[in-house]
Amino acid sequence: MAVTRTFSIIKPDATRRNLTGAVTKMLEDAGLRVVASKRIQMTKEQAEGFYAVHKERPFFGELVSFMISGPVVVQVLEGEDAVKRNRDVMGATNPADAAEGTIRKVHAESIEANSVHGSDSDENAKIEIDYFFKPEEIVG
Ligand code: RTP
Ligand code: MG
Repeated sequence: MAVTRTFSIIKPDATRRNLTGAVTKMLEDAGLRVVASKRIQMTKEQAEGFYAVHKERPFFGELVSFMISGPVVVQVLEGEDAVKRNRDVMGATNPADAAEGTIRKVHAESIEANSVHGSDSDENAKIEIDYFFKPEEIVG
């Protein structure tokens, strides 16, 4: 299995509850390595651009408001089959459906305030990494 990269966000519900370390430990324990990380306050424009694929969805406005409601930690994660590995440890979008031991089962508050984002394909991982990081900010 090839070593690949994915993009992760520790969302405002998690940073607000001081869970940056706890979430990162779960990512690391799942075999992912943090090769870039920064804590940022997203602007409305940045959040709208990031979630542009969801702009016709009924929850788009609320999602953007939530994502700018506090700081987030954006990360690049590296590991074998990183996209799938990360999605497996994240758990289902709705914490009520998430498997035991996943980040969302343990930490998420709701389907919206679900603690983490993870890219859903290698193609989107590259787009999302490039959206937030310059190449020199990623040190593997
Ligand atoms: P993400 O993109 O954040 O990794 O999560 P995901 O793939 O599991 O979920 P996605 O369908 O891409 O939805 C993006 C984010 O929108 C919020 N959401 N709210 N109110 C709702 O019904 C609803 N559905 C989704 C969540 O924050 C979700 O992670
Ligand atoms: Mg998604």
